[in-house]
Amino acid sequence: MSAATAVASRDTVYNDRVVRQFAIMTVVWGIVGMLVGVIIAAQLLWPALNFDLPWTSFGRLRPLHTNAVIFAFGGSALFACSYYIVQRTCHARLFSDGLAAFTFWGWQLIIVAAAVTLPLGLTSAKEYAELEWPIDVAIAVVWVAYGIVFFGTLAKRRIQHIYVANWFFAAYIITIAVLHIVNSAAVPVSATKSYSLYAGVVDAMVQWWYGHNAVGFFLTAGFLGMMYYFVPKQAGRPIYSYRLSVVHFWALISIYMWAGPHHLHYTSLPDWVQSLGMVFSLMLIAPSWGGMINGIMTLSGAWEKLRSDPILKFLIVSLSFYGMSTFEGPMMSIRTVNALSHYTDWTIGHVHSGALGWVAMISVGSIYALVPRLYGRTEMYSVKMIDLHFWTTTIGIVLYVASMWIAGVMQGLMWRATNADGTLTYSFIESLAATYPYYAIRLLGGTLVFAGMLLMAWNVWQTVRQRSAEIDVPIPAPA
Ligand code: HEM
Ligand code: HEM
Repeated sequence: MSAATAVASRDTVYNDRVVRQFAIMTVVWGIVGMLVGVIIAAQLLWPALNFDLPWTSFGRLRPLHTNAVIFAFGGSALFACSYYIVQRTCHARLFSDGLAAFTFWGWQLIIVAAAVTLPLGLTSAKEYAELEWPIDVAIAVVWVAYGIVFFGTLAKRRIQHIYVANWFFAAYIITIAVLHIVNSAAVPVSATKSYSLYAGVVDAMVQWWYGHNAVGFFLTAGFLGMMYYFVPKQAGRPIYSYRLSVVHFWALISIYMWAGPHHLHYTSLPDWVQSLGMVFSLMLIAPSWGGMINGIMTLSGAWEKLRSDPILKFLIVSLSFYGMSTFEGPMMSIRTVNALSHYTDWTIGHVHSGALGWVAMISVGSIYALVPRLYGRTEMYSVKMIDLHFWTTTIGIVLYVASMWIAGVMQGLMWRATNADGTLTYSFIESLAATYPYYAIRLLGGTLVFAGMLLMAWNVWQTVRQRSAEIDVPIPAPA
């Protein structure tokens, strides 16, 4: 085949190779990241499990967990789904195969670099932005390439309308680039050490502007893009209200930007900035719930599908957790509530109702929906196994989140309890001892979630083994 015919025939099929690669790595990194989560949950119960080694201490493994689950697991799911969805909704092959392959290998290399440097204790000490400057530069380069592939594909689309899922992906790609570049600005002093360009309270404000929008755009907007494609697809019905999805989009992206100061209540940040953060956080309920309702109501009239389709169960339960965590977050941003919740395990419960309940469940559901399509099969190797995964995950998350809620409120109340003479009723160690049973329940819940991921790996592996010989999917001819 001549080079010209090869290019022409390539342009008649979608580029699913890079989607397959990212989809498989989502499962791999999900297992790795959650295993580290289980290990640190066990360390909080049995501190001796750090084996007195610096590399396996809680302080080093914790950022390894957060980076692995958010950027490796969540990030791979986002790459896979955005590349798949933008092609299918634009009837166009990815803008550049070479750049797409570069984003895959670049992102994997960055993850490996993180997995090596974090246990070695090389960190910028900024939460969710711990990686040192050479890795930060690599992230910026890969992210710009991602933007070129995504927007280039939008530009060559053969469908005039830009489907709402792509708006969410576009906002997430642009915003993460801006957040990452601004928050990571630093002065390097060696290949492995740098100091932030900002100082004092400005540094804290920039960090939580980044941190909160990492939640809003990485952990929310991108996954909403997945939701707007896979929920209607799996339900076999159009989205409940397209108009609501557009209002949802603009309201969400314009309000999220201002809510970051709720992470800095009762600090030296000016009072008015804290109040501003609180007010914008409260307003966030509206677009968040608009999105949740839009997703769940898409099933209206087809509720019976929930009984037989475990993938739909993953997608719809993830939306329920999204609703719960986006109600809880605004409540926690009220300063008097935050006075109780901050520093306690309540925050950890909130984080995982969002991160496990929403992010992990929507990712797992979307990957289950994707894998058969990517390997030329009509469904996964075992639908029963997906159902089992759904139940182990759901029970695991409920155990995790409920135990942390109870532990958190208990800790907050014990720390503020005073005797008649003004002395503290409980010592800190007493509150820690009271927390142990809840740490044990969290460990059990986390282990169940992790076990579910192993089931998924087996199911995906068997599906891939039974793939059809012809897996290239043709792009529909122009109408
Ligand atoms: C098997 C599943 C998981 C287990 C057992 C687990 C366990 C843990 C533990 C023990 C911590 C440290 C808590 C502390 O410092 O007191 C933690 C923190 C965290 N985890 Fe997980 N995790 C799991 C899954 C996930 C997933 C899927 C995500 C994100 C998509 C996630 C995101 C986070 C974040 C962001 C933090 C830091 C929270 C904060 O600083 O407030 N985790 N996790
Ligand atoms: C309307 C939406 C939300 C609001 C207003 C909100 C608000 C809050 C508040 C007030 C805190 C506690 C800050 C502190 O005391 O330090 C918090 C922590 C956190 N939330 Fe949310 N939340 C929302 C949704 C979510 C979702 C959907 C996720 C995950 C997917 C999430 C992930 C986190 C994380 C990771 C933290 C811990 C940050 C840290 O390391 O300290 N949030 N959120």
